[in-house]
Amino acid sequence: MSDTNVQIFDTTLRDGEQVPGCKLNTEQKLIIAEQLDNLGVDIIEAGFPVSSPGDFKSVEAISKIVKNATVCGLTRSVENDIKVAAEALKHAKTPRIHTGIGTSDSHIKYKFRSTREDVLERAYAAVKYAKSFVEDVEFYAEDAGRTDNEYLARVCETVIKAGATVLNIPDTTGYCLPSEYGAKIKYLKENVKGIDKAILSCHCHNDLGLATANSIEGVINGARQIECTINGIGERAGNTALEEVVMILKQHPYLNLDTNIKTEMLYGISQLVSDSMGIYTQPNKAIVGANAFAHSSGIHQDGVIKNRETYEIIDPKDVGVTESAIVLTARSGRAALAYRAKNIGYELTKLQLDVIYQSFLEFADKKKEIDDNDIHQIIENSKIYKEINS
Ligand code: KIV
Ligand code: ZN
Repeated sequence: MSDTNVQIFDTTLRDGEQVPGCKLNTEQKLIIAEQLDNLGVDIIEAGFPVSSPGDFKSVEAISKIVKNATVCGLTRSVENDIKVAAEALKHAKTPRIHTGIGTSDSHIKYKFRSTREDVLERAYAAVKYAKSFVEDVEFYAEDAGRTDNEYLARVCETVIKAGATVLNIPDTTGYCLPSEYGAKIKYLKENVKGIDKAILSCHCHNDLGLATANSIEGVINGARQIECTINGIGERAGNTALEEVVMILKQHPYLNLDTNIKTEMLYGISQLVSDSMGIYTQPNKAIVGANAFAHSSGIHQDGVIKNRETYEIIDPKDVGVTESAIVLTARSGRAALAYRAKNIGYELTKLQLDVIYQSFLEFADKKKEIDDNDIHQIIENSKIYKEINS
């Protein structure tokens, strides 16, 4: 892995699947895992094997079919979780155990009724035990976003000594500001002894709408893995959206950070996940929403028809969307109407367009969106139809 490469850790099938009421069956998970592997994700977090027999079965089945990606299973810092995860992952070409424990004072005091020292010991023991099964062990410091940096650095040093290969720094509650999260990663890079032996990973939640910004700030400050889900799905307000971080790195080449993702597959896989989970993607969702490449105001349409780049920073084909959409509404101008009419076979002169445009506006005031049939109807009913058709 080069220093400019950011590993994409997809957790659609684990953290993403924690969306209430959106449980997938093993067959659906296998289809998604195969597509994630084709998409080029580096790691697929396939589930939490000890949590249910169904999850165990899915992780085991995914381990058997994934060809390229590392397959990962989640555990708590509990021996039985780790043993069960290792068993579920035993057919994976490259298995990873993802173990960890809460490190914020709130988790230590209220969840574990324990002490910082005890948590350090448990973290060390969990990683050591996971290492007895697999080489690749990722450690998560749950609620790292609200963990003080000095203690977090001690946690990181401890688990590196136990053999952790990846250090996951989750902003579990989606609380951090981008500057804060970036500074946390920088602090760990500069203050953890042995940090060169491990990769720092960003795992950000979206409670304040900052998951994507925080993950990007994390990699700018030295992290080299982002944990994310397709469409940003996940518990509460969701996780970092895979398609967003990937396209941000692609569209900002001067950051000198890249991923192995085949971006032309992004739209297709977004649809697959949304259909399988029965979760509708908001139309204005960045990159994959139905309106992400649709233009409806006259000024924008005129610009896009002259040159797409006037109002689009991404070529829709780069993310698997066939073309930008020029949506006809009462706010559309003559350029958009001429463009859409031409697409269905009418080359209108300037004078003809003036006439048809008046009828179009009357029609558009009654109907929200004008489709190709409506354009045919407007032209066929106009007094200049014979002239246009001759
Ligand atoms: O958000 C979180 O802290 C997690 C961990 C279990 C990795 O999902
Ligand atoms: Zn999470």
